[in-house]
Amino acid sequence: NNLDTLYRQVIMDHYKNPRNRGSLDEGSLTIDMNNPTCGDRIQIHLQVEDGKVEDAKFEGEGCSISLSSASMMTQAIKGQSVENALKMSKYFSEMMMGEESELEDIDLGDIEALQGVAKFPARIKCATLAWKAMEKGIDEQEK
Ligand code: FES
Ligand code: FES
Repeated sequence: NNLDTLYRQVIMDHYKNPRNRGSLDEGSLTIDMNNPTCGDRIQIHLQVEDGKVEDAKFEGEGCSISLSSASMMTQAIKGQSVENALKMSKYFSEMMMGEESELEDIDLGDIEALQGVAKFPARIKCATLAWKAMEKGIDEQEK
């Protein structure tokens, strides 16, 4: 249907014109994570200050789903509180389980464009890779 077509266009746009591709200065967090099912690997870079995600970037190689997801994820969490970034991550993983959850008052950016991936279990790891890396980085920083 039309929504699927629109979502597919959004995914391809992030894949072809990735937002926030690159690295950050020293002193930022870098999380390297691979998808064991295919061996693809991405790095997420985060600059977190005073409970806020000041900047987020990504590098690495992967399929269109993993890279577009990393692009959408960095765009969505940039400028958000750490708390909101984690809420978005929870929302995203629930979306991948096909659950409809609610998240009010947070701008989700384009992340909902990937909801169709829930229908393809083999691709879910591709879509959640960047989010898992982001969560790991925040977790490590808080220790
Ligand atoms: Fe098979 Fe990503 S692991 S498509
Ligand atoms: Fe490797 Fe999607 S096939 S991350």
